[in-house]
Amino acid sequence: MKANFPADGGDLNVSRVFFALWPDQGARQRLRDLALAWQPDCGGRVMRAETLHLTLLFLGEVRRDRLDSLCAVAGSVRFGQFAFSLSQFACWRHNRIGYATATDGTAALGQLAQSLADAVSAAGFGFDRRKFVPHVTLLRNIERQVEARGITPVIEWPVAAFSLVESVPGGGAIAYRDLRSWPASLSPRQAAR
Ligand code: 2AM
Repeated sequence: MKANFPADGGDLNVSRVFFALWPDQGARQRLRDLALAWQPDCGGRVMRAETLHLTLLFLGEVRRDRLDSLCAVAGSVRFGQFAFSLSQFACWRHNRIGYATATDGTAALGQLAQSLADAVSAAGFGFDRRKFVPHVTLLRNIERQVEARGITPVIEWPVAAFSLVESVPGGGAIAYRDLRSWPASLSPRQAAR
């Protein structure tokens, strides 16, 4: 099926959505501090603390009358609580972002992203099929690439739920609105099977 992410913009009947994880307060603060610390080296725009997130699957524009159906699909995805850690800061040239990424504990993260992709695909929704690379964008429109560097101590990120998030443009700054969240529903033993 054709991906639905290229946006025409301005259509009130569609919502620009993605599945994501939100950091807890401690992780959010650390990420914001790191963004401020690295901005002088990379240039670019520091992401606002409340926007910091990790995208699991980007769908792009979805008709609002299909959001209930998308939520039903998301609700069918089962996973157990897990944790990963953000351990490295790096830059991408192609989209000029500076980001924090995970170098370990990523198997469960990849599994959750894949489960979501499988479920929405089976239900006929389009999505960005690029390989999942877990990252939290800290800086946008960077002016200089810097060497990847370690984050010490690493930022622990316990995952107990994922969310469907709407990207709401307005006033020059994008805001993200949580539409709905789904908690982990498998015990550690079930998740290990
Ligand atoms: P990014 O931070 O690397 O740009 C909202 O745009 C979220 O969806 C961001 O985390 C963004 O990643 C991610 N995303 C993934 N694929 C995207 C796409 N094709 N267009 C816009 N955002 C995308």
